[in-house]
Amino acid sequence: MAARRLTVMAATVLAVGACSGGSAVSGPSQSPAVADINSYPPMANDAAPGASTRAITAAAAIGRGVNFGNMLDAPTEGAWGLTVTDDFIDKAAGAGFASVRLPVRWSNHADAAPPFAIDATFMARVASVVDKLLAKGVTVILNQHHYHQLDGDALDPGEFAVADSVRDVRFVVIWDQIAAHFKGRGDRLLFELYNEPHGRLKGEPWNVLAARAMGVVRKTNPDRVIVVGSNNPYTASNLAAFKVPNDANLILTVHNYAPFTFTHQGATWVTPVTPVGVTCCSASQQSEMTAPLDAAKSWAMAKRYPMYVGEFGAYSMGDDASRMDFNRKMRDAVEARGMSWTYWEFAAGFGVYDPVKLTLRQGLLDSVLGH
Ligand code: BGC
Repeated sequence: MAARRLTVMAATVLAVGACSGGSAVSGPSQSPAVADINSYPPMANDAAPGASTRAITAAAAIGRGVNFGNMLDAPTEGAWGLTVTDDFIDKAAGAGFASVRLPVRWSNHADAAPPFAIDATFMARVASVVDKLLAKGVTVILNQHHYHQLDGDALDPGEFAVADSVRDVRFVVIWDQIAAHFKGRGDRLLFELYNEPHGRLKGEPWNVLAARAMGVVRKTNPDRVIVVGSNNPYTASNLAAFKVPNDANLILTVHNYAPFTFTHQGATWVTPVTPVGVTCCSASQQSEMTAPLDAAKSWAMAKRYPMYVGEFGAYSMGDDASRMDFNRKMRDAVEARGMSWTYWEFAAGFGVYDPVKLTLRQGLLDSVLGH
């Protein structure tokens, strides 16, 4: 759901011009045009052709997956208590997850000024995680996550600001670099343009920005399957406003945290924090869970693209029996509609893995992967 906030924004770090340190990778050409959004024309989005066999195959390959959340999507890796370890990769693959969605906060690791070069050390770090996952045979969904200025949100502690005038073009140029870096990877690497666009991106701004990012990625990755979702943020009810780019190698995505008062009870990053003690899943709660899935599925079928549920899960402030019931029912409902999914998430507040004991939380794991 919406951006994770550990604390109130008072501690927000505003260090315009800062980067995370280290040397830069070779970015796009240093021409003045790099800071001009008009140098990145949007792909047309008036006649999406429907999905290719490649996209349909990739969507099926996502299967049952998990998000490596609160790791590379923190302002810096480790700032939210987790780093990606070889143990996580081994345990996730060994448990039977067919895919890993890898949320990454690239925006806090790229220069604030043109050519917005991504820090080379960070690029190498992300690439090493991607490659280890690919070597395990899992499908990897690599995204941009939590570029808070893009949505017009306040920054997190430890996140630096850039000039508002460059935030959109910087997003596109960051994609230019990611796409160039990973262009040689195989079909099991998918790109997802941006997690849960919302706020200032609502409606047409996201349609245009997504289409610009599509154009830039396609320069180096003509066929790679790309995941893209609607805005405000990734809820099924907003799909109608989304214009699908004219590209066949696409998978559409939504997130589903309904009923929110159950899944996010006590979550400190939600304002206001909602009361704890909510159980799941009554008949009316089950209707709340399935209505967005029906809407998402029928919209995607009308557009002739596969639909993938990139996040669902229930925060650990709910009771475990209800969380497991929710997971199993949501998983079954998603699969009954022919959609793949990635559970939110592996080792933090929703996690199926205990990063202290280094053991899987078997009950929760079974609720997503078991019978
Ligand atoms: C956000 C996370 C958040 C989760 C559940 C994700 O999309 O990126 O920070 O914890 O939703 O609210």
